[in-house]
Amino acid sequence: MRLALFLALLLAGPALAAPPPPGATACSGCHAQPARAGAAIPALHGRPAAEITAAMLAFRRGERPATVMDRIAKGFTEAEIPAISAWLAAQP
Ligand code: HEC
Repeated sequence: MRLALFLALLLAGPALAAPPPPGATACSGCHAQPARAGAAIPALHGRPAAEITAAMLAFRRGERPATVMDRIAKGFTEAEIPAISAWLAAQP
């Protein structure tokens, strides 16, 4: 079920000018853009790429406590994560 939801989010991603790397548009299903006041899940657009990459790698290795991000981060390779982070950082 969670995988089906994740794939649905992946396919529903908005078409933006710069072609996003695979998986990058799936993040906004939970991480609202722009950030909503009081939202429990922080926005990612415009965040420094190094910060997003570091968090994703820590989730992936199980070093950072998570409810869902550990599983999501494991769905991407260590090469895909910096590409997604760079794209998110470049978004307004
Ligand atoms: C199913 C909802 C969901 C999706 C999809 C999702 N996230 Fe998350 N994200 C969360 C939640 C919830 C947290 C808080 C940590 C936790 O509970 O897992 C979080 C936390 C994070 C954080 C840490 C932010 C901070 O400042 O603490 C980063 C970075 C992050 N996500 C990146 C991503 C990226 C990149 C993607 C797309 C590949 C993504 N997320 C997709 C729900 C989601």
